[in-house]
Amino acid sequence: MTVTDRRYGTGRQHGGSVKTMAEKIKEIYEKVYDVLIGDRDLWQQLFNIAVVIAILGASTSVVVSIILGNPPIAILLFLITMVFAILCLVITLNAKDVIYAALLFSVVGNFVLFPIMFFMSGGYHGGMPLWLLFSLVMCWVVIKKRILYLIYTLSIIFQCGCILYSEVHPEKVAALGSEHAVVMDIIQSLILVSLIFGIIIRYQNTAYEKKKQELDEANAFLSETNERITLQSMYTLAKTIDAKDKYTNGHSMRVAKYSEMLAERMGVSDEEKDEITNLAMLHDIGKIGVPDAIINNPSKLTEDEFNVIKQHPLTGYEILAEMPELKDIGTGARWHHERYDGSGYPDGLKGEEIPLPARIICVADAYDAMTSNRSYRKYLPQEVVREELQKGRGTQFDPDIADIMLDIMSEDKDYELREQ
Ligand SMILES: [Fe+2]
Repeated sequence: MTVTDRRYGTGRQHGGSVKTMAEKIKEIYEKVYDVLIGDRDLWQQLFNIAVVIAILGASTSVVVSIILGNPPIAILLFLITMVFAILCLVITLNAKDVIYAALLFSVVGNFVLFPIMFFMSGGYHGGMPLWLLFSLVMCWVVIKKRILYLIYTLSIIFQCGCILYSEVHPEKVAALGSEHAVVMDIIQSLILVSLIFGIIIRYQNTAYEKKKQELDEANAFLSETNERITLQSMYTLAKTIDAKDKYTNGHSMRVAKYSEMLAERMGVSDEEKDEITNLAMLHDIGKIGVPDAIINNPSKLTEDEFNVIKQHPLTGYEILAEMPELKDIGTGARWHHERYDGSGYPDGLKGEEIPLPARIICVADAYDAMTSNRSYRKYLPQEVVREELQKGRGTQFDPDIADIMLDIMSEDKDYELREQ
């Protein structure tokens, strides 16, 4: 069904023109079809059709009884039937309300309708204790799981009370029955309709849960696939950047690894850690826009060449802004060359104005630059790297993050954290 279909699909505007009779009939037919058949399976369709036939049958018999006489009871029956008909349709349309409706009907059936039937039939001595058993059947039809046991227990206690009362005061119960015998007809029809209703609820409920489970599984599969594709794309992008710069091959992946280690020690959540790792993997993506001749220039860069290189954070940010579903994915690219004292680029952000992922990547980036081989030098000795990090605390680097990197280095006795 859908509500959706009706809202967006067939609910087209007619530009204010008056609908013809044929259009109106077609609209009603579509709505009825949607309610009865929709996209339900065969059993659901049969149940829905059965309830409509039951309601129509009950209403017709009521109308006939009005025509033939006894109007007050007939009108009452008619009203009750219509209320149930409306409820049936509402609940058929809103499957999520089924659980509450089932609970309501079970409680009413167990504690009101069936006990009334029991007393109207003369109580325990009147030969109708079966009415009380019906309440247990209704429980089974309508509810499931833990609530079922609760209602069952309460219902049994309540029924024992009813039976006891009818044993102790049989004369009162008998009088009640004869005084209100007329009401019996009304209640009986009410119960019959509610039982049909209960069975439908039970069926709709099961069908709804089955559909929901299928949808949840499909969604989980889709988001897992989506995540995998995204990660693969990021990995490919990072490899592309690294392949362009022949002197810093593997740089993006190593910066991602160091950033992940820093983030982990900072105690961020797993989700944030993954995010920071991904941002780090893509931090230099803007280098795609820098000519190869400049990137792979082994000699000292001219001022103009350096200005071109300095564009890469903004270029990277603009490229990543093309992926709006990955929110903030450009954070690392744009601000990893900011310095803690505010003298970095491109925006001259200072201290904690620089987003945390960018401050982490800044330390990881500098660490990898010092611990990887260049065309003009080998990786720097660990002691030199340590001194540089200490020197940059509070000027280039966030001092806390630099300290964590220094801790990691202290534990790395064999100097394994470098370009191998
Ligand atoms: Fe960079």
